[in-house]
Amino acid sequence: MTLWPVPRRILGAAGSWRNGGCLAFSTLLAGIGMLAGSGTMTADASPRERVSLEEGWRFHKGDPEDFAARLNYDVRPEVARSADGKEADTRPEQAIRIPAGSKDVLKPWILPTGNAFLRDKTRWHVRPPGNPGGDHPFVQTDFNDSTWQPVTLPHDWAIAGPFLSDGPYGGMGRLPSWGIGWYRRKLDIPVSDRGRSLFLDIDGAMSYSAVWVNGKLVGGWPYGYNSWRVDLTPYVVPGGVNQLAIRLDNPPDSARWYPGGGLYRNAWLTKTQPVHVAQWGTYVTTPQVSKQAATVQVQVSVDNDAAASAKVDIVTAIHALDETGAKIGAEVARIAPVSVQVDARDNARVTASIILSRPRLWGPPPTQKPNRYVALTTLSREGEVVDRYETPFGIRSLRFDPNTGVHVNGERIVIQGVNNHHDLGALGAAFNRRAAERQLEMLREMGANAIRMAHNPPDPQLLELTDRMGLLVVDEIFDSWETKKTPLDFHLIFSDWHEQDLRAMLRRDRNHPSVVLWSVGNEVGEQYTDKEGAAIGRRLHDIAREEDPTRPTTASMNWAKPDMPFAAAFDVVNLNYQGEGIRQDLEFEGTERIRTPPQYPGFHQAFPDKAILSSETASTLSSRGVYLFPVSDKVSAPVRDGRGGDSKTRQVSAYELHAVDFGSSPDKVFASLDHHPYVAGEFVWTGFDYLGEPTPYYEARSSYSGIIDLAGFPKDRFYLYQSRWRADLPMAHLLPHWTWPGREGQITPVHVFTSGDEAELFVNGQSQGRKKKGPFEYRLRWDEVVYQPGELRVQAYRDGKLWASAETHTAGAPARLEVAADRNVIRADGKDLSFVTVRVLDEQGRLAPTADPRLRFRIDGPGEIVATDNGDPTDMTSFASHERNAFNGLSLAVVRSVPGRTGTITVRAEADSLRSASASIKSDAEPAR
Ligand code: GAL
Repeated sequence: MTLWPVPRRILGAAGSWRNGGCLAFSTLLAGIGMLAGSGTMTADASPRERVSLEEGWRFHKGDPEDFAARLNYDVRPEVARSADGKEADTRPEQAIRIPAGSKDVLKPWILPTGNAFLRDKTRWHVRPPGNPGGDHPFVQTDFNDSTWQPVTLPHDWAIAGPFLSDGPYGGMGRLPSWGIGWYRRKLDIPVSDRGRSLFLDIDGAMSYSAVWVNGKLVGGWPYGYNSWRVDLTPYVVPGGVNQLAIRLDNPPDSARWYPGGGLYRNAWLTKTQPVHVAQWGTYVTTPQVSKQAATVQVQVSVDNDAAASAKVDIVTAIHALDETGAKIGAEVARIAPVSVQVDARDNARVTASIILSRPRLWGPPPTQKPNRYVALTTLSREGEVVDRYETPFGIRSLRFDPNTGVHVNGERIVIQGVNNHHDLGALGAAFNRRAAERQLEMLREMGANAIRMAHNPPDPQLLELTDRMGLLVVDEIFDSWETKKTPLDFHLIFSDWHEQDLRAMLRRDRNHPSVVLWSVGNEVGEQYTDKEGAAIGRRLHDIAREEDPTRPTTASMNWAKPDMPFAAAFDVVNLNYQGEGIRQDLEFEGTERIRTPPQYPGFHQAFPDKAILSSETASTLSSRGVYLFPVSDKVSAPVRDGRGGDSKTRQVSAYELHAVDFGSSPDKVFASLDHHPYVAGEFVWTGFDYLGEPTPYYEARSSYSGIIDLAGFPKDRFYLYQSRWRADLPMAHLLPHWTWPGREGQITPVHVFTSGDEAELFVNGQSQGRKKKGPFEYRLRWDEVVYQPGELRVQAYRDGKLWASAETHTAGAPARLEVAADRNVIRADGKDLSFVTVRVLDEQGRLAPTADPRLRFRIDGPGEIVATDNGDPTDMTSFASHERNAFNGLSLAVVRSVPGRTGTITVRAEADSLRSASASIKSDAEPAR
């Protein structure tokens, strides 16, 4: 046994960043505990229980008048002017300073919640005397909340709208996410819980949470994206009535995107013996990995909440997991027992390791398999088991090389990644595992192998999914440090909370094999403050290194240059847009905004020992199925009225040539990556459209930058990425659609995305010529095609041989609807979803590509329609509505099962003058997956 050894960072010969592999998040499960994302695993009877608190909540928006602002976390600065429509790359401004000294603030009682994440114990916050809010009616045990809204978690209080059509709210998605919200629920604490430690674990609450139990303020956590815990033990009465009340206070002007509002992730009641594994208290690393053998090192952090010191014996067994997360057979290894003495009300850590022969390595498909293991840690005192804890993990090696990029288990993996925000489109911020899984499945279908969590820690279940599916992850913590992007964003609390928030993310997520890089910031204003900003960056880097020396750090730069101290502070150079250059075209001459020549060579030269990643590329903008003329003859262009954009309809052309002013089309990004092959790869901004930040039309509700629209329908770009990222998949894709009444005889350019290298285009059987991709060309374009109705067909070739073909036909008048579910069998658990697509077809069954009839959705059987959408960024119909227009021939209904009710669900879509259609979905108790 070794005490608290720090795994060593090994520098390769070329100075590359190299380490042993690592690991997955730890969750304990026992009793009804369940490891979402990896199936249910029952630990042997454990003294630990993890009880889901999803059910049984009452919700109310707002404070009673006499209490308005009396329970705020801190004094909140007045916002004189909202900052909607602000360009993403505007320089962040100085922080707003908060006047100190108001007595009506909760901050001194909330800060102690984060103590376990402050390394220097002398800086731990001492809870002041007093009980703020003790007289508030909503925290009282006997308060009658029967008129409050019953809710089930995860809950996003804003997603149903209504949308705010006026005012500067586009940036935050035009949905009322801000304000105060209260949640109340009883806790089941039987007499038998006397003597146990009891914790409330929140996976995420948006935001500025404060928790009362039985009228006593317990603590809270301001940052809305982190997971956190409060200790309920001193406040509950075993055997009595235990009333939980949580107040959230989500600020306006606090985000550049839609944050959501409420208890939007899961909540848990965790019960342990006084001696137990600490919160996120295991850390599994694999410092040596080869095909023959791997060292598995398990560090266990033990809390002793009791008044006497305790000697604890710890043993960890290792089991292999199958694809669903179930254990395969007997244990594959057992780490020799170790013992540790834990002082009263203290913590101690021990580390032990074992060598596992012929390990099944974790790695990204298609060339590798995401094999996982679980470490089962048992704590005993004098022969009696006091805790059991399960830590899923993976064995892999990871190396970032300045010249060849990312290597997993020795194989070079070119990063083909996307950025994603946390919302799930029409479902809002409320996390749903199936909705997230569907997103990842679509991205994988496109060929993506990596996700950047822009710009905050995700729901823990999302990382269980990326582990299971073998996607590589950049886990990111902040979008702002001390300087502000929006008036009430995280900068207000950065100085008080950055360490706790960063360490919380690191401890929660460091066992996930999918996480390969820690990002401590995105385009922060400290890029501009020279040594001062770099020093903050270095401090965050050091914290990351203390918590997890096995992975490199980074912070994304859209401005800092190689000769600035900021860039030197981190292990990996993450560039947003700068790689291919920003606003380099002549039309940007003289503009005030960032204008930067291509930066890859400069950074590569200045940092010969650091890998370079393009953490944001493209930000190409388009609306699915909208084609505007004339079509630019450039490879990449900004959006302007009449040139890719239409400010009246607020739509952007899907020829996929137009980008934000500081971005580029995918083609231009591909070329710059191919010119600089040492760059480790890219993360496209963004995989999916998201709520808010609707550049360039801030009157809209959602973004235009997704490769896939908000409803989950691929835009044309999907196939451009697929043609590159799955180069061996024979495919060809044509655009635009070929239904243009009134355009007869007019030039209607046709572009083809194919994994072939050559193609021939035909209009009604007549060749328009055969074209070959030139060097650094990624699409084939026939810009002189004259439209005539009929058939448009392409035949693609590779190495001179027929490789793939595609065709599209002019559609007739809309005649009928088609309804199809993405899954026809779902689980009757009240969470599982089927995504039901409605297509508007002509008599021949061809998609009517511009049809927008008003659709009415009906549902029968044990299911409910939780949301509808169509991917139109300008559609202000509430997502909760069962009526909406199709957008360019498509619409979506999201159907959810009802817990415990099995049977057939029928979803029907109707529209005036069109034949209706329906789809059936079986809701099953235990569907096969
Ligand atoms: C980047 C920023 C992202 C997003 C994007 C929009 O500068 O990091 O959060 O705003 O621009 O194109």
